[in-house]
Amino acid sequence: MKLWGGRFKDEESKLMEDFNSSLSFDKKLYYEDIKGSIAHVKMLCKSNIISENEKDKILMGLEKILEEIENGDLKIEGDYEDIHSFVEINLIKKIGDVGKKLHTGRSRNDQVAVDMRLFSKDKAIKVKDELNKLLNFLIKVGDENNYIMPGYTHLQRAQVVTFRYHLRAYYSMFKRDKKRIENAIDIMNENPLGCGALAGTTYDLDREFTTSKLGFEKPVDNFLDGVSDRDYIIELISSFSIIMMHLSRLSEELILWSSSEFKFIEMGDAYATGSSIMPQKKNPDGAELIRGKTGRVYGDLMGILTTMKGIPLAYNKDMQEDKEPFFDAADTVLSCIKVMGGIISTLKVNKDNLMKSVKRGFLNATEAADYLVNKGMAFRDAHKVIGEIVIYCEEKQSAIEDLSLEDLKKFSDLFNDDIYEFIDYKNSINKGIKSEIGYNN
Ligand code: ARG
Repeated sequence: MKLWGGRFKDEESKLMEDFNSSLSFDKKLYYEDIKGSIAHVKMLCKSNIISENEKDKILMGLEKILEEIENGDLKIEGDYEDIHSFVEINLIKKIGDVGKKLHTGRSRNDQVAVDMRLFSKDKAIKVKDELNKLLNFLIKVGDENNYIMPGYTHLQRAQVVTFRYHLRAYYSMFKRDKKRIENAIDIMNENPLGCGALAGTTYDLDREFTTSKLGFEKPVDNFLDGVSDRDYIIELISSFSIIMMHLSRLSEELILWSSSEFKFIEMGDAYATGSSIMPQKKNPDGAELIRGKTGRVYGDLMGILTTMKGIPLAYNKDMQEDKEPFFDAADTVLSCIKVMGGIISTLKVNKDNLMKSVKRGFLNATEAADYLVNKGMAFRDAHKVIGEIVIYCEEKQSAIEDLSLEDLKKFSDLFNDDIYEFIDYKNSINKGIKSEIGYNN
């Protein structure tokens, strides 16, 4: 069933019809499509293009279709070209010829553009809401587990931080992600309805009216751009990709930390899985899947970027390929943020193992060097002295703070009793990451 065909003599091939149809995936847009049509019809009436009576009939038909789709009476299937044809043909079936007036002053090009903007804006807001929940979990779980732990560079133990501080790094990352989404919404918040196919229409359409009805900030400035702009989709998927990159880094750390080699955390049973053969296993599948799905979202971004790169103005059918990557990326990022929230809020932190790892890692070596500097030694020399102490400790299987003053004085007579206070881990934290004074050790 088609909305066109007047100028065609021969039947379309079945192969081409299937190839061309987007209904199987753009059916997701039914709500936005009907919402856009409702605003359009009200505007047509207000601009005296259709009568009050015609408007009421069409609105009644559209609302009925929406209701039937939502209660399952009307299934979105069949040989329709796309969701726009589906709604319009069903409207005509329902209310008769007056339904044929719906598409006055409109093209599917501005129609699909408005549908996608409404849909992607809604998804972006949902992503923002989920990010907010994750941000709260990171704060809460960090505050509840404010234990000293090793901080790493090159995955080698480096200096002390706290578990809370570590989670707050992710807090900062996801907060930036939230800003990126807000900014994308701000840029995309323009109404393409009224652009027509590419060059406007001969009707005096009230674009301000549909703009305010649909909750956009303003109408688009340029019709050619309005129907062929997909920047907002690219921008959102690119923000989603950055979120996934952050989620993936966090996943990687959680996977490492829950291994027997680290044992810093234990995943909650609700977010771990077992092995079908090895009874002892508790696998961090949730985090691994998030890490894995990151590749998929990057793929969606590359797909749409590549699709858009050679398209001349204005609309071309290539743009139908914007939908699946966007739907996939949005659904994936939303479920990954939710699952990460679950993982974070149910994990248990092993305070003792964090501390053991701190002790074994010479995490106060930098502070010990600073101590000698404060006593007058040049930093390079202090670095060397502490390096020698570390070798000595490794041989004796001891920590710097466990050496006697007598032992320490063998390396430098600048050492005094106050060294122990100076290289105490809690003091290092208070002096170093400062903002995090106090920890529940
Ligand atoms: N299914 C199409 C898409 O998603 C709708 C727009 C069709 N426009 C057209 N001129 N054929 O892009």
